[in-house]
Amino acid sequence: MFALLLATITACNQDSGSRELPELPPLPPLLAERASTAGPERPIRELIVALTGSVRGEVEVCGCPTTPYGGFERRGVLYGQLRSHGVPTFAVDAGEMLVKGLTARDEVDRRLRAEAVLDLAAAAGLDAWAASPLDLPPGGPAFLQEHGALSANWVPEGGAPLAAARVVEHEGVRLGVIGLSDLPGADDPDGAVRAVTAAMTEPVDLWVALSNASEAVNRAVAEGVPGLGAVLATQGESHDEPLATHGAPIIEVAARGRYVSVLHLTLGTDSRPVELVNRGVWKDVALARGRLASAGEGAAVVGAELERDAARLPGLTTGRNVAFVESVPLDAGYAPTDRGSGVSARLEGFRQSVLSSAAAASARPAPEGGYATGSSCAGCHSDRMASWGFDAHAHAMASLIHRDAQTNPECVACHSTGFGRPGGFAELKPERVEAFRDVQCEACHGPMAGHDGRGGKSSAPVTEATCRTCHDEANSPKFDYGAYRSQLSCVRVSGQSEPDR
Ligand code: HEC
Ligand code: HEC
Ligand code: HEC
Ligand code: HEC
Repeated sequence: MFALLLATITACNQDSGSRELPELPPLPPLLAERASTAGPERPIRELIVALTGSVRGEVEVCGCPTTPYGGFERRGVLYGQLRSHGVPTFAVDAGEMLVKGLTARDEVDRRLRAEAVLDLAAAAGLDAWAASPLDLPPGGPAFLQEHGALSANWVPEGGAPLAAARVVEHEGVRLGVIGLSDLPGADDPDGAVRAVTAAMTEPVDLWVALSNASEAVNRAVAEGVPGLGAVLATQGESHDEPLATHGAPIIEVAARGRYVSVLHLTLGTDSRPVELVNRGVWKDVALARGRLASAGEGAAVVGAELERDAARLPGLTTGRNVAFVESVPLDAGYAPTDRGSGVSARLEGFRQSVLSSAAAASARPAPEGGYATGSSCAGCHSDRMASWGFDAHAHAMASLIHRDAQTNPECVACHSTGFGRPGGFAELKPERVEAFRDVQCEACHGPMAGHDGRGGKSSAPVTEATCRTCHDEANSPKFDYGAYRSQLSCVRVSGQSEPDR
């Protein structure tokens, strides 16, 4: 560890040249052991690993105000760009990919989404993914198995064990990927170490664990599995910075697919943990490599020169595995230019199936009469109607139009009233949407056709759960029931006004 750290530190102090190193303390036992078991040096190989995790069924760019990033289309563009550089590129997901949070309306919806996510992931070019117990869609364990989910330590209830690992090969480079699942209430670091060790059965260029497990399990595996290159994990507490350990580093990725953690690797062996370097060092390594590659007959001279640089640039020497990690936000720069094929076409297909599922649901008659829709309340509640007009809810559809997302069912569901609900709507034609646009009275009070304030139909209770169907953690991360509720015009005018008589 100290040796690795020092190598990195000296690498960072590039100006200090051949600075004397202080006396080194003895190697900690773990590393000493690791060093002695390191396999033979091998020719330098380069590769890129693009990591996502906790995508949680988010297929589109996030509508969120602060970080409008993400979505499978942009991910596909990023993978394509990385792959176009001629370096073998692997795309992997650490799990919690399939199932969306609270908004999933029902089983059909969840299954539809899980299938769409896997379809989109395949179209974007995902190579391997780890299963999480949170990924269990209707259809159960068999569904995970059929779609190649990996897990070395989790046997889904009522199902057979999943494949523990897979070897993916691109342009002659072999990446071994092991799945590691979170087992809430049954955290077993030692078991995880054994399971991962047992899964590393064949020779590859680099083994990585794809993990949605707890931090304790990740650390145990990173430090306790000889020959493991890195632990690539879903977001934990250290997602801002890769975490160095006494063994392999733990590299996390921000949740919901808004960012992709991209690892640029250069390998010099097949059995040592990856050492992390900063961007500056990485650039120097890449530059030096380039010079060597283009030196032709002068290679020997350049090689000797580089040899002298080797101490400063650990990635140049053989026998070491070096990586630089960057977190790439999937912003508008990755928007696809051709929306007619690949991921975009499949996304369009998914939107259509959401629409037909919503159409089937909204065709069912509402238990009591259905939606009266906004304008009809105005007749008797003109004051509430007027004050609601100043709420953000009243321009929810305008926000979508602003983003050109008014025909995207994925967005309309929360920026309107009664989408895909019995007695509601599903067709996104302007004239149909008009009556249901924005977050109207009945989005909170429930369908109220037939109500006239004379003892007939009355409001459904408005509770925190009512809000959370739309104010979920993805789209309203700062939601606080008390604070948000007090901002509602309805709450502010309550007690101050009576219905018009
Ligand atoms: C699960 C419900 C939900 C979905 C799905 C959803 N939104 Fe939203 N959206 C919200 C909520 C709730 C807010 C308010 C967040 C807050 O202020 O806490 C919001 C806020 C916004 C805002 C910010 C408005 C402003 O001016 O501050 C925009 C723009 C937006 N959404 C666009 C979209 C787009 C585009 C999509 C589809 C890709 C989408 N939303 C999908 C619930 C949703
Ligand atoms: C024909 C007139 C009329 C129309 C139209 C009407 N209301 Fe009312 N509403 C009343 C009256 C009168 C009361 C007061 C009853 C009371 O105080 O017991 C009332 C009470 C309410 C209440 C509180 C008591 C309850 O029933 O839960 C809510 C909420 C409400 N209305 C919502 C709506 C909404 C939403 C709409 C439009 C879909 C609407 N009203 C349309 C006349 C009307
Ligand atoms: C049908 C979905 C839906 C429901 C139900 C809903 N909201 Fe919203 N809410 C939204 C959307 C969408 C926005 C963003 C509108 C915009 O700016 O485009 C929003 C915005 C808000 C805002 C403004 C936030 C800001 O930053 O300006 C508040 C406050 C709010 N909601 C409170 C509530 C509360 C409290 C409840 C429950 C009583 C609730 N909402 C129920 C969809 C919903
Ligand atoms: C974002 C959710 C939301 C929307 C949209 C909304 N309301 Fe309300 N409304 C509430 C809440 C929460 C209360 C409870 C206020 C309280 O009890 O202090 C309430 C209270 C009321 C009451 C008084 C109920 C009572 O028992 O005193 C009436 C009437 C009412 N709303 C009508 C409307 C009408 C009409 C609209 C549309 C113009 C509307 N509301 C839109 C959440 C909403």
